[in-house]
Parts: sequence; structure tokens; C-alpha cells
Amino acid sequence: MKKRIVGVIGAGHVGAHVAFVLGMRGIADVVKICDTKEQKAISERQDLMDAVMFMPHRVEYVLANYEELSDCDVIINALGEIELLATFDRDDEMAFTIPAVAECIPKIMAGGFDGIFVNITNPCDVVTDLIQKLSGLPANRVIGTGTGLDTSRLVSAIAQQTGLDHNSFTAFMFGEHGNSQITPWSLVKFAGQPYEELAEHDERFRFDRKELQERAIKGAWITFAGKNCTEYGIASTGACVTDAILHDKQEIMAASVKLDGQYGESGIYCGVPAVIGQHGVEQVMEYTLTAEEMKDFKECCQKIRTNIAKAEKLLAK
Ligand code: 2OP
Repeated sequence: MKKRIVGVIGAGHVGAHVAFVLGMRGIADVVKICDTKEQKAISERQDLMDAVMFMPHRVEYVLANYEELSDCDVIINALGEIELLATFDRDDEMAFTIPAVAECIPKIMAGGFDGIFVNITNPCDVVTDLIQKLSGLPANRVIGTGTGLDTSRLVSAIAQQTGLDHNSFTAFMFGEHGNSQITPWSLVKFAGQPYEELAEHDERFRFDRKELQERAIKGAWITFAGKNCTEYGIASTGACVTDAILHDKQEIMAASVKLDGQYGESGIYCGVPAVIGQHGVEQVMEYTLTAEEMKDFKECCQKIRTNIAKAEKLLAK
């Protein structure tokens, strides 16, 4: 029987938690942990193995170098330098992450990897773009967690505001996984009904849109302020994308995907809702946005383009 094999690059706060969620939710059968800090990888693996008895089924946690990730179905990139996020700006991680990704992706590809990359590393949209270019894989097989995590923060904020369960409504964050991302409120629907219609007779739906959007954008920094990292939310997001791939869920979720004409944008990775399944990105969803939402979305896309240019400059040094 074919085992579901997932590689995790980086065994720091995020990578270790992704490895944990993959096991605890029964998503993977084999998790390959890859980190240049040998003892850190050994210790995380030991701790994970100590949890296997409590997981829904047996998971093999193994150590691997880049070349040994070749048989993975999915590789989750979670490398990073968390201290650089102390500025509360993900763009500042670029100085470390761009060269680090440029070093490891060719090694992984040289090993013969032919699966799907799920990128978490920040700045997420820019690094996802770089992984796709360096790997030469088709764009549908390179996905960033992007605004998937921010969408979860938005959904939590709306659920708290309305008292309704997370699954009773749809809402998405669009744009960069960064401070310029936006909430297209025209897409927020409660079992199909626009929230403005509900607001006419129910005050729970008369919420402060700006405040809820801020909670989605700034949630990371509240977490970071007290623990110098974020881990549960992002690990769950990465594992959820991987689950959708490995179980061919054909699920619509917000992720960083390559735009090819959708929303009038092409050639960049950006957070929008997409269908995720066994081939990775099965379809990029194109919703109708209001003129104002479209204007703000295009500003996000411009910001990502500027950052891609910065990354290219870093690589040329
Ligand atoms: C997060 O949003 C910092 O990108 C990380 O949790």
C-alpha cells in the first residue's frame, strides 16, 4: 500500500508543529524532517516519536537531508530566521530566507523530487514564487499558505463577533500574506446570505469591518509579542493544505497561488481562494470584487511585485 510521505524543511517552531499536526490529524504516514541543525532535528524527532502512541495511526518520523526528500508526495518548506520577524514585518525575513531557499531547492530537485511544494516561509508569496522558478515545477504544484492563515484569523474574529460557528459562513483574506492584505467584504456570506442583509434586523452583523480586518492582519503580531513566534495557526494551515492534496479534497481555500489572468493579474503568487486537490492548485477561483476591493487588491499585487524585484536583487548579489 502506498504510504503518504511528507517532507518538512526546517524543524523550528513552525516546522516542528507542522510535523506534529500531520501526525495528530492522521494526514501523513511518513514525515521526513530536514534541518541543518542536526541536534535540533534529532530532538524534535524524538519528541514527535514520543507522541505517536497518541496519534490516530502509526507515523514514521525520520531524519532526512535535502536529497533524501525525493520520494515525498509533498514537501512543506518552513525554514526561517524567526528573530527577523521582531520588526512585525515579514518582508524583513527576506535577507535570510531568499538565499536559504536558493540554496536548498536546487539540492532537493537534484535528488529527483517530483511532487508538490507547500511553502510557509516568509515573505510567503515572494518565496513561493522563488520556489516555483527554482524548481521548474508547474505553477499548480507550488502553493504558498499565503492568506490561508489570515483567513483563519478573520473567520475567528467574525465567529466571535456573531457567535456563529466558523463553518456557518465564508470569508477570505486576499492579497499578500503581509500587512497590505485585504478583506473583500462583498464575499462574506452566512449560509449564502450577504451579511448586510442580516444586519438589517440583527445587530450582531452590524460590525466594524475595519476592526475585524485589523484583527486578521495583526493577529500574528499579538501572538509574536508574547512568544516570539507563531506556530499553531500556521502549522494547522500548512497541514490543512497538505491534507487537501493528499486526500484530493477539491476544497476551496485561500492560498498563495500563481495568477494567470484572474483579477486582471498575471505572473505573481498572491493569496486568493483556490481549489486544492491531488494536483495541487486545481483551479484559481475568480470572484467579482467591488471596484474599491479591486483597487486595494491591485495595490497588494504591486507590493508583491516590488518584493519579488527586491528578492531578485538579493540573489544577484
Ligand atoms: C504568521 O502570520 C508570522 O507569517 C506568520 O503567523
